[in-house]
Amino acid sequence: MKEINLDAKIQFCQLEELTEDDQRLVNKAIEATRNSYAPYSKFYVGACLRTADGLEIIGANQENAAFPSGLCAERSAIFAAQSQHPESAIVALAIAARNEEGLMATPVSPCGACRQVILEMEDRYQRDVKILLYGTEGIYVIPNVKTLLPLHFVDSCMK
Ligand code: THU
Repeated sequence: MKEINLDAKIQFCQLEELTEDDQRLVNKAIEATRNSYAPYSKFYVGACLRTADGLEIIGANQENAAFPSGLCAERSAIFAAQSQHPESAIVALAIAARNEEGLMATPVSPCGACRQVILEMEDRYQRDVKILLYGTEGIYVIPNVKTLLPLHFVDSCMK
């Protein structure tokens, strides 16, 4: 049997090391945690994406008493952007989260469903979505969602 190595290379840095645009995106994701409605999990997630035209659109997780009816911060931002600007590729997405004690020290990664939705954006626009995951200890910079989704499934897999 042959072994296949699925490698992933990401970067870890401090906020000041990012470009000005990326710093602003991360700061907006941090601010967006304040717009979270998370009375059940008390886990407040914020996201901010940038489109190829330079638009910045935020999202925050929205929960519901009927649990599956809620939505993650990342998909809130992506679906809002897609609904208003379907012609614009999404090129970067920053994510931050806090609990009742404050901002998370370790960066929080998008859930599987959000990764799949980000993948659809990369596939739709044929552009990488740079992902910036904020933690107070530092930021993971991930060049595209495919890095987080080895052996991913897209439309072309059905042809
Ligand atoms: N959540 C997000 O908004 N994004 C993530 O990447 C992880 C989880 C939300 C969903 C739910 O409202 C709460 O965090 C706890 O899972």
